Amino acid sequence: MMKFTTWAMLATQVAALGKTKRQRPLTFSKDGTFQIAIFEDLHYGEAPGTFGPTQDAHTSKVVSKILEEEDVDFVVINGDSVSRDNLMLNSTGYMNHALAPFVKNKLDWAITFGNHESNKNRRVEDVFAVEQKYPNSRSKSMISGQDAGITNYYLPVYPADCRSGCGCKPELLIWFFDSRGGFNYNQTDAKGNQVHRQTWVHAEVVDWFVTERNRLARQSSTTIPSIAFVHIPVDAFYAVQQGPAGIDPNRHPGLNNAFERSQGAGFCSDGVRNGTCAWGGQDVPFMQALVDTPGLLGVFSGHHHANSWCYKWTAEGLPDYPVQPGPDGLNLCYGQRSGFGGAGDPIRGARQLLLRKDKIANGEMDTWIRLETGEVVGDVSLNATYGEDRYPEVKYRESFCQECFKWADYKPTVPR
Ligand SMILES: *[C@@H]1O[C@H](CO)[C@@H](O)[C@H](O)[C@H]1NC(C)=O
Ligand SMILES: *[C@@H]1O[C@H](CO)[C@@H](O)[C@H](O)[C@H]1NC(C)=O
Ligand SMILES: *[C@@H]1O[C@H](CO)[C@@H](O)[C@H](O)[C@H]1NC(C)=O
Ligand SMILES: *[C@@H]1O[C@H](CO)[C@@H](O)[C@H](O)[C@H]1NC(C)=O
Repeated sequence: MMKFTTWAMLATQVAALGKTKRQRPLTFSKDGTFQIAIFEDLHYGEAPGTFGPTQDAHTSKVVSKILEEEDVDFVVINGDSVSRDNLMLNSTGYMNHALAPFVKNKLDWAITFGNHESNKNRRVEDVFAVEQKYPNSRSKSMISGQDAGITNYYLPVYPADCRSGCGCKPELLIWFFDSRGGFNYNQTDAKGNQVHRQTWVHAEVVDWFVTERNRLARQSSTTIPSIAFVHIPVDAFYAVQQGPAGIDPNRHPGLNNAFERSQGAGFCSDGVRNGTCAWGGQDVPFMQALVDTPGLLGVFSGHHHANSWCYKWTAEGLPDYPVQPGPDGLNLCYGQRSGFGGAGDPIRGARQLLLRKDKIANGEMDTWIRLETGEVVGDVSLNATYGEDRYPEVKYRESFCQECFKWADYKPTVPR
């Protein structure tokens, strides 16, 4: 009885922290599955006077096509839904454009913010307010600190027969983190340039995560499987890519064409950003918290448009790295960049994640990428032998907004 009361309290707290409106709980399907479509780097709202609306229409077409092809239960929008370059004061409105295909398809979603939602003319709180108006939104903001970012929260997913969320024990926890980045609102430096925001999950958020995770674990007699979404990858993504084994096209199928650092990139360890430091290590406490989380099956990120692999990070892989995963390792997955805005032109698509109750209990997930062409690539099972099993290679391909070329200011960038 005690346990039932506690889970009822959790459901109430989750509801109270979000919108006042009552939403049915997120549940697995009757067949025990829960499929998440991950869209990321949609980059709506560039160049509103020229190619922007055409480019955005291309993006919406890709999203709609993927939703048509896949049997999606839930959507995660993993950062950079709108582009940062648009400094117009009305640019929060592009969030409505980004969400329209999901509303049309009657799908619920959860969002993380990336490094593009913010600029000197755009307050992340205002972008979030636009998103929060939709009944389909499951996004929350569970910790409010001046610098903590907005999209830090978790969502429980319950068994199919759980009607109200009361008295049911979650079978999955989905964590969302705000990696910040972009530019501070209403701030310019002495030269009139925008001021960079920090590009890592804030220490306050890490503390909240550890406390909340431990509290949830105490309420449960068993480990609840979990997954995590954060737009800017943690440094371990870069470390495994650069590591002795590296990304094998057959064992980690996906694009592998961006070789840049991620959270804490370009900052010195004291937080100074003066062009002399490669990585400040500010994401080490967050990585430590992730690897210390029993049942955490994977971390999903976007940000580097030309990467779309999954890698099982293990202790043997990087013996000298400051953070080490537990004996089961931790899956690090890029999604597939979905939008036509932003840098580079790797083919658009969306990572799909199929969670089955029986498989996640064994630490396994299935995932694949649905491309804008309708093709499926990188179809893998993140199971005990992921990293050893061989799969067909995913070749690097590009796609363009052909109609956008008629505008002189449309200059697709070459992927780095
Ligand atoms: C913002 O204003 C510009 C200029 O009036 C207009 O072209 C654009 O459609 C507006 N964007 C939104 C999202 O309302
Ligand atoms: C922007 O910053 C200036 C100077 O710090 C301040 O006076 C102003 O109220 C701020 N505006 C907004 C909308 O926050
Ligand atoms: C950049 O910042 C670091 C850390 O504060 C400092 O050690 C270094 O001297 C600075 N370099 C320059 C060129 O300002
Ligand atoms: C993992 O999945 C792959 C692909 O389905 C399969 O070949 C392999 O046998 C599986 N490994 C385990 C331990 O189940």
